[in-house]
Formats: sequence, structure tokens, C-alpha cells
Amino acid sequence: MSTVNTVESSLPTQRLLGKVALVTGGATGIGESIVRLFHKHGAKVCIVDVQDKLGQDVSDTLGGESNTCYFHCDVSKEDDVCRAVDFTVSKFGTLDIMVNNAGLSGSPCPDIRNVDISEFEKIFDINVKGVFLGMKHAARIMIPLKKGSIISLCSVSSVIGGIGPHPYTGSKHAVLGLTKNVAAELGLHGIRVNCVSPYAVATGLALAHLPEDERTEDAMAGFRDFVGKNANLQGVELTVDDVANSVLFLASDEARIELLAIVLAGVKWFYGAGVMRLVLLDCSFLVSAVVDKLPKLLKIVC
Ligand SMILES: NC(=O)c1ccc[n+]([C@@H]2O[C@H](COP(=O)([O-])OP(=O)(O)OC[C@H]3O[C@@H](n4cnc5c(N)ncnc54)[C@H](O)[C@@H]3O)[C@@H](O)[C@H]2O)c1
Repeated sequence: MSTVNTVESSLPTQRLLGKVALVTGGATGIGESIVRLFHKHGAKVCIVDVQDKLGQDVSDTLGGESNTCYFHCDVSKEDDVCRAVDFTVSKFGTLDIMVNNAGLSGSPCPDIRNVDISEFEKIFDINVKGVFLGMKHAARIMIPLKKGSIISLCSVSSVIGGIGPHPYTGSKHAVLGLTKNVAAELGLHGIRVNCVSPYAVATGLALAHLPEDERTEDAMAGFRDFVGKNANLQGVELTVDDVANSVLFLASDEARIELLAIVLAGVKWFYGAGVMRLVLLDCSFLVSAVVDKLPKLLKIVC
């Protein structure tokens, strides 16, 4: 009677059984939720971060050594990323899934004349160079295997302006661009390249720009209140687990085709005419990127 139940019961309970994943920024926030969900679904997971104690703790709570491990890696340094990928392969035998999640938002600075250029460079180093390095070194392992899934964390700030600080918004637009371009290359090798673009989620990133003594429950409640009022879908708060579930889908074998981007619980402005034009442009890129595969794609859809 219920289609939903039929679909649900046909899903394997461990959707990543036998797969090996590397999750950057996996010590806390969205990354930690991805690590825990991947582990629950049977994947072996290497957690990569710069917060060593938190990262090691996450690994330990999941049973440690046999199915999870922690590796110190600053994603903005190529040597670190190269070593993290090689460590994962030597420990677990391969790399099936790369999640480029590590990111920083930076401080809000509504006046461009006051933006500190070193802050701009730091955000681009981590959010853009870090993602590119993750893609590059995952590709090194995945191309010879002719399979794999690379998922990067974009943001609603990848498709609209005016919500985040300038460096953050610029960096997240860049990650969407990288995703499109790398997808066009790696698709030829059977590797899926996608991104997930969440609207605001209450994590450390939301308050990270504040001095530690101002990161209070009240400040987080204010953040939630602001976010809730501007969300399109009322009565639902986007959580780290919602984001992790989208990443799980893209990492699993159920995601047989490239979707390019999943935008989660977008803000109201997203549905305005100007923004819709941007979305359509993105879609037309997607169609042109897969145009030679359309007959095959249509067969799958039909
Ligand atoms: N929280 C949101 O509202 C939101 C919305 C859209 C997109 N995102 C994106 O999701 C991702 C995760 O965000 P979050 O909210 O969980 O943030 P978070 O601050 O809670 O976690 C980010 C993690 O990345 C790690 N990290 C930072 N710099 C690093 C570096 N150089 N090398 C390795 N690890 C590093 C941090 O130590 C931390 O564990 C980011 O890319 C962010 O831009 C977040």
C-alpha cells in the first residue's frame, strides 16, 4: 500500500558496506555527523582534521583502529593531503569516497574596505585550495580503479550572494565551479563528483568568528532564530544529520548518476526570480556537461 515503505525496505541497511572513506574536517560539526553515519553504514573511515584531540575522540568512540582512524592534516597543505590519502589507502586498502568537508566561514565584515586580505587568503586556502587538493589526490587513487565518489561541501552561498562574508561566498562559488569542472573530467573515468549545498546549520562554524566567551547558548539561540525566520521551509530546522544523509546518498551506490548539487532547505530569497535564473544556468551547464550521455541517462530515468 505504501510506496515509501517499499522503497525503504529495498534499501540495504548498511549502504556503504565494504567501502573506504576519507572525511576532511571530521572532528566536529557536519563532518563528525558524516563520519558517524558512514561508520553506521559499514564504511571504514579515516577522519582528517587539525583538531587532533577531538578527531581522535570521534575515532575512539567508534571503536578505533579496525574501522576508523584519525590522521592530522591541514587541508591547505598539499603534503598533508597527499599523506592523508596514502595513509588511508595503506590502512584500509583503497579509497572509494572522498568528502571535502573542512571549511571556515571567517568573520562577518559588511564593509569591503575593512576586509583583511590575510583573512581572505586563509578562507580561500582552506575552502578552495583544500577542496582542490582533496579532489586531486583522491583522483590519483580513483582514476586507475575507474570508480569512486567525491563529494564536497558547498553552501547556499555557492549560488546566491548577500548571506555570508565576501571571502566565504566567493570561496563557496569557487567550490561549485571546481565541482562542475572536475566532474566533467572524472566522469570519463567512472568517478562521480558532486556537492551538497546546505543552508545554515547550527554548528561551531556559525559562532566561530566570536571570541570564545561570547559563543554562548544565547548567541546560538539568536542564530537559530534568524535562520528559522529566513528559511523557506517553516517548522523544520536543518541539522548536521540532514546534511550527512544527503552526503550518504551521494556516496552510496544508489546515486548512480551525477546530480551536481543538492541544495538543502534553501532560504526564501533562493526562490526569487533573479536567483532562479542562476539556478537555471547551473542546470543548463549540467545538461551540457552530460549531453553525450543523455540517451543513456534517459534510459535510466525511463
Ligand atoms: N554550518 C553551516 O551553516 C554550513 C552551511 C553551509 C555549508 N557549510 C559547510 O560545511 C562544512 C562543515 O562546516 P561545519 O558547520 O561543520 O563547521 P565546523 O566549524 O563545525 O567544522 C569544520 C571542521 O573543519 C576543520 N578544519 C578547519 N580548518 C581545517 C584545515 N585547514 N584542515 C583540516 N581541517 C580543518 C575544523 O577543525 C572542524 O573540525 C564547511 O565546508 C562549511 O562551509 C556549513
